Amino acid sequence: MFVEKYGPWALIAGGSEGIGASFARKIASSGVNVFLLARKPQPLEEVAQQIRQTTPVTVRAASVDLSAPDLAPRVAELTAGLEIGMVVYNAGAESKMVPFLDRPMPELMRLIGVNVIGPTTLLHDLAGKMRVRRRGGIIVVGSMAGFAGGSRMAVYTASKAYEQMLTESLWWELRPFGINVLMLIAGTTNTPAMARMGIKLEGTGNPVMEPDAVAQEGLENLENGPTWVAGAHNRAALPYMCTPDRKAAVEMVSASADAMG
Ligand SMILES: NC(=O)c1ccc[n+]([C@@H]2O[C@H](COP(=O)([O-])OP(=O)(O)OC[C@H]3O[C@@H](n4cnc5c(N)ncnc54)[C@H](OP(=O)(O)O)[C@@H]3O)[C@@H](O)[C@H]2O)c1
Repeated sequence: MFVEKYGPWALIAGGSEGIGASFARKIASSGVNVFLLARKPQPLEEVAQQIRQTTPVTVRAASVDLSAPDLAPRVAELTAGLEIGMVVYNAGAESKMVPFLDRPMPELMRLIGVNVIGPTTLLHDLAGKMRVRRRGGIIVVGSMAGFAGGSRMAVYTASKAYEQMLTESLWWELRPFGINVLMLIAGTTNTPAMARMGIKLEGTGNPVMEPDAVAQEGLENLENGPTWVAGAHNRAALPYMCTPDRKAAVEMVSASADAMG
């Protein structure tokens, strides 16, 4: 069923580590060929090789910067002739936590590129092709930070909110065409990106999830859109993030961010 609904190819943007690599392994083990995108060639090739050794599917990998201005023609060229039945847009974590005014504009524009321009560009092309075929699946990985602004992550929280609104709208618009769209909200997750940022994962009072568990919840809830929050503890925190008392929400997010380093 999974292959008929979402095959023969899945494109995973940010598929070389963490949650994206978990998605790639799980989708491949369902029998769908996977096309992995990320910037660094070596981790890409390592994940691709691992999947080739453990599943019979075809794996492709390409070094692509999702914030690059030529993203549309580059992806069009890479995917020409492939029927992409599933898209996972995973990339989009912050690389450092610094106050807005202390961040150079090029860094902020790169984050906007990955979280705003990237998913808009990729989905406009690939969801358009799914609409013609009247089937497909789309998962965009968002963040609890998209529900409220907070300390040292102004553009991150803003861009995650954009991704969520884009994805929820597409859930509605594409539903009549048999396309399942899901905004998968992750909370604190033990990924290499978090380790590179030097984020404290333990002892902050924030439960931490493993990438496999987040990806598993995404795949299990692909038909439960528009939005699924991974982890019961994150779902329990939602009323505090989505409260009309925005002062309380921003204070809570900021305290939590400051505790993590
Ligand atoms: N980890 C958490 O605690 C957490 C919490 C909430 C939400 N999330 C969300 O979960 C998703 C995954 O997060 P993550 O922590 O695993 O880190 P991430 O950096 O967003 O994702 C890692 C993957 O994305 C690729 N990537 C990053 N920037 C890219 C770019 N400009 N172009 C192409 N590929 C790019 C990385 O490879 P390269 O570096 O080689 O390009 C890698 O394959 C993000 O959307 C994030 O917002 C994570």
